[in-house]
Amino acid sequence: MNVEQVHGLDATVKRRLAVLVSGSGSNLQALIDAIEGGELPNIEIVLVVSNKANAQGLQRALTHKLPALYLPWSLTRQEVEAKLATVFSLFAVDLIVLAGWMRIFTPDFIGQYPNRIINLHPALLPDDGQGDTFTASTSEVVPVLRGLHVVGRALESGAKVTGSTVHYVTPEVDAGPMLCRAEVAIENSDTEETLHERIKAVEHRLIVEAVRKLF
Ligand code: GRF
Repeated sequence: MNVEQVHGLDATVKRRLAVLVSGSGSNLQALIDAIEGGELPNIEIVLVVSNKANAQGLQRALTHKLPALYLPWSLTRQEVEAKLATVFSLFAVDLIVLAGWMRIFTPDFIGQYPNRIINLHPALLPDDGQGDTFTASTSEVVPVLRGLHVVGRALESGAKVTGSTVHYVTPEVDAGPMLCRAEVAIENSDTEETLHERIKAVEHRLIVEAVRKLF
């Protein structure tokens, strides 16, 4: 069951996305490009939120004349969630896309948006989000990496493959059901930077695919 079926959304109106970022916002840009290029005709981004003032993602939003909001790290989690709930309602947001957003939400907040928050995670997560190992298409069994610094941890693990997963956000961090996933081969010469760059290149189409799949 997708978001439309769960929420009975009208097929004639555009789906309204809020994209939450903390950094460069290259995935936000991928969504903007897909929308502007006509690839996602029934989608619009109605709000971009960043918890870093100097996030390039905020600039990208303003360049494309999208409403943008900065919620400082100094705010408590409760304050952030109260403000987000207000703006999500104000902007009639249908789907919340975490594209590099670095703050964890409380179970209560997540519970207010069932199947309506998705996250982009730069590692391979299982279909149901559960378990500690993942079997790649190469038959290699790799550790499931959740939380921070997963690109560097994939390199350190000695695995030959990693990737990216778009998944539904549930109270358990990086453990919600998978929506879209793609593998990326790890080269012997990779540094965290080169590997993350290749992962991001894959993510740019994965996030568009995930949004398309939902609506
Ligand atoms: C992506 O690699 C995403 O998987 C992770 O944070 C990164 C955000 O990159 N959660 P960008 O800000 O979209 O360039």
